[in-house]
Amino acid sequence: MIRVNDNFQELPSVYLFTQISRILSKYKEEKGVLPLIRMDIGDIPGPLPKSVARAMKEAVDQLSKPESFKGYGPEQGYSFLREVIAQKDYRERNLPIDSSEIFISDGAKCDLGNLGDILSQDSVIGVMDPSYPAYIDDNVIDGRAGSLIDGRYNRVNYFKCVAEKNFSPELPQSKVDIIYLCSPNNPTGTVMSHQELEKWVDYAKKNNSLIIFDSAYEAYIRTPGLPKSIYEIAGAKEVAIEVRSFSKTGGFTGVRCGYTIVPKEIVGYYKDGTPVTLNALWSRRQTTKFNGASYVAQCGAAALYTENGRREVKEMTDQYLENALELRKMFEESGWKVFGAMDSPYVWAENPYGLSSTETFQKLLETCGVSTTPGSGFGREGEGFIRLTGFNSRENTQLAISRFLKGFKEL
Ligand code: MLT
Repeated sequence: MIRVNDNFQELPSVYLFTQISRILSKYKEEKGVLPLIRMDIGDIPGPLPKSVARAMKEAVDQLSKPESFKGYGPEQGYSFLREVIAQKDYRERNLPIDSSEIFISDGAKCDLGNLGDILSQDSVIGVMDPSYPAYIDDNVIDGRAGSLIDGRYNRVNYFKCVAEKNFSPELPQSKVDIIYLCSPNNPTGTVMSHQELEKWVDYAKKNNSLIIFDSAYEAYIRTPGLPKSIYEIAGAKEVAIEVRSFSKTGGFTGVRCGYTIVPKEIVGYYKDGTPVTLNALWSRRQTTKFNGASYVAQCGAAALYTENGRREVKEMTDQYLENALELRKMFEESGWKVFGAMDSPYVWAENPYGLSSTETFQKLLETCGVSTTPGSGFGREGEGFIRLTGFNSRENTQLAISRFLKGFKEL
């Protein structure tokens, strides 16, 4: 008898975005009323920035010649990329991150799940509600979440985020060992201020907790003074891991590359009290289970830090922000309560008709041919909301807006 991981029985049978994609395949097969416009998963319409495509082609040329071929690379990532990240994303912003604290990955989603390998199975986890569903699902698989009772896992601490408080997470009343924070938050698009993050760093220090800070959307922050990195908060290097991605900044959703900062200051303990740095543990984990992101992807990522690359990232993120803002304006003018879009590609909108999230999702799909993500898929506090993305062409965004304006009359 092959015994399997029992924890899978505690998972919803399908991952949120897989479920949506199945519904959309059916819609396409049945030739729904209108050609589908996708505003559900945060995928990039492309193409890759020119500087990235050029660098990747050059990398392929190098790999095609015996004198410049490369086989296995360093599991932690090539130093040319780790150095440029340390310099441009951190040291130029007066944040003392060393390249040895940077680990190149094949994307934020993978690292967010894999980090569980270096943490105790007994740890109590806490997540924002609503939040990116992978945080909980990863921990269900690892056995940290407990059982699903009335739609909630009994070993997970849910940090309530409500509209009245701009979806800012409430500090837990009891001890949480691993805290997942995301800012700008996926799905609400809201951003935590310095003051708010300070409260969490303070909590983590007092309770010996670890913060896993997902900052995949930091490139969308435009409001001056909002923190882009948790390391802008004094003392965060002792308690926080930061996870970033090139998916939404460089169009890498298909290329796959990101990075994770594991500061050397964070110390964990074995059961017998022996201390170990999380940086050493993560390095040990990566050298065992990962052979590094592809050389071609890493060359592409490095190109995002050149003058041209930076300009292209700014242009691309500006366009998605503009789309999100237009969507926000249209929803607001139509009487919906809306969050996000200011410093984030996500628009988080509550329907004024008293429909549930899934009803709204279904109706907008059927009447407008636009797919959104039901807010309840991100947690109980997301009920009543839908999430839309600005990741589209201008034309598709305008088309979706004109369809919504007609479709709302039928809701
Ligand atoms: C989302 O739509 O929430 C994201 O695109 C999912 C992801 O980054 O994995």
